Amino acid sequence: MPLFVPKKITGFQVSPPVQGDKSISHRALILGSVFPGITKIIGLNEGQDVMCTQKVLEGLGIKTYPGDDHVLTITSPVALKPKTHLFWMGNSGTTARLMMGVFAGVPETIYLDGDISLRKRPMGRVIQPLTDMGVNVQSRSDRLPMAVTGTHHPRALTYHVPVPSAQVKSCILLAGLFSKDTTTVIESVPTRAHTEHMLQELGYPIQINDNIIRLTGKQTIQKERTIYVQKDPSGAAFWVVGALLLPMSEITLTHVCMDPFRLKYIDILMQMGGNIRITGGEIVIRSSHLHGIHVGSEWASYLIDEYPILFIAASLAKGLSQFDGLHELRAKESNRLEGMMNRLKRFGIETWTHGDSLFIQGQSGHFNDPNIVIDADHDHRVAMSFAILASCTNGCYIKNYDTVSTSFPNFWSYLLFK
Ligand code: S3P
Repeated sequence: MPLFVPKKITGFQVSPPVQGDKSISHRALILGSVFPGITKIIGLNEGQDVMCTQKVLEGLGIKTYPGDDHVLTITSPVALKPKTHLFWMGNSGTTARLMMGVFAGVPETIYLDGDISLRKRPMGRVIQPLTDMGVNVQSRSDRLPMAVTGTHHPRALTYHVPVPSAQVKSCILLAGLFSKDTTTVIESVPTRAHTEHMLQELGYPIQINDNIIRLTGKQTIQKERTIYVQKDPSGAAFWVVGALLLPMSEITLTHVCMDPFRLKYIDILMQMGGNIRITGGEIVIRSSHLHGIHVGSEWASYLIDEYPILFIAASLAKGLSQFDGLHELRAKESNRLEGMMNRLKRFGIETWTHGDSLFIQGQSGHFNDPNIVIDADHDHRVAMSFAILASCTNGCYIKNYDTVSTSFPNFWSYLLFK
């Protein structure tokens, strides 16, 4: 049954819930597991994607102990050893690609699979460098399901990452942790840097010089460590845009990860006329009149997860917006370029693509039919984006709305009942 998301009568107010950052949560679990010892993780994301990563690591021998106040303690053995050989990656590209980096150092054959969305996503981008490191990967058309056979000693690699992807970069760095030599990753386009920063914070010897990251494997870190996971700026983005669009809104977000790379969307929304203030670790957002914007391709890797909700902002802003360099949107949980455009058209919004650019004529839609049904198609960010559009206009139905639980299990309870 599709879920009806009605127009919101009051604006967005008080402090909406935001989950722990999803990217940081995956890495906290993985880095807590690949080094023997005890890790306390505070504020882990509670969505199914991160739970998939946790389950896979449990299948490799770590033990987990949930405690009070969102604290998870994990203990990891001297070496990861599969208790099973079949692993489920769910809907999570981050689990699949980062765990393939870990499987590189496990000298057994591991089979992995995922849901129909993940089965469509390109894995050649990690298969190729892992193969160069001596890992054997068997797959059909570089997609899941696949079999990965790692080795005790992956070959070190110097790799220029050909696609802007933090998942690819992280996969190679993780595989490099098992090599006795030095692995170098060179990025021509910057991507989120949580893996290398977390390794550094954990005391692992790693060199980060602008776009070149270098580490030698088989080093150790302290046996006991604590990782604090800040709140997810990409999840917060739905409330930020909702509060800007809906009259009488004012919300304050606290403890959000303030990494400027992840907050680029706030700059974009401010350039669109958004009334947003960042002070002393808080983000305060008030209702605003937005106008269109041209976002160049140089920002694509910074905004990669926020485009769907930025397209909603552009649809209700005054004037034309243009977003360039969007080819990677086609490789997400669904095709977020043509997919978002086609769904926006259902509301009469004038929108079109030209190559890898998307154009949106703001305020061109009609929202007189609340019976439109939007299929989320296994894509949590598509579901949440149209939920915000529906809340700020005249409502709509969302089919397969439960996909939101991959990243944001308490999203609906705040949107519909607060
Ligand atoms: C992620 C990297 C990005 C992003 C994804 C999370 C990560 O994917 O879209 O949601 O945690 O490394 P790509 O590496 O494919 O760009």
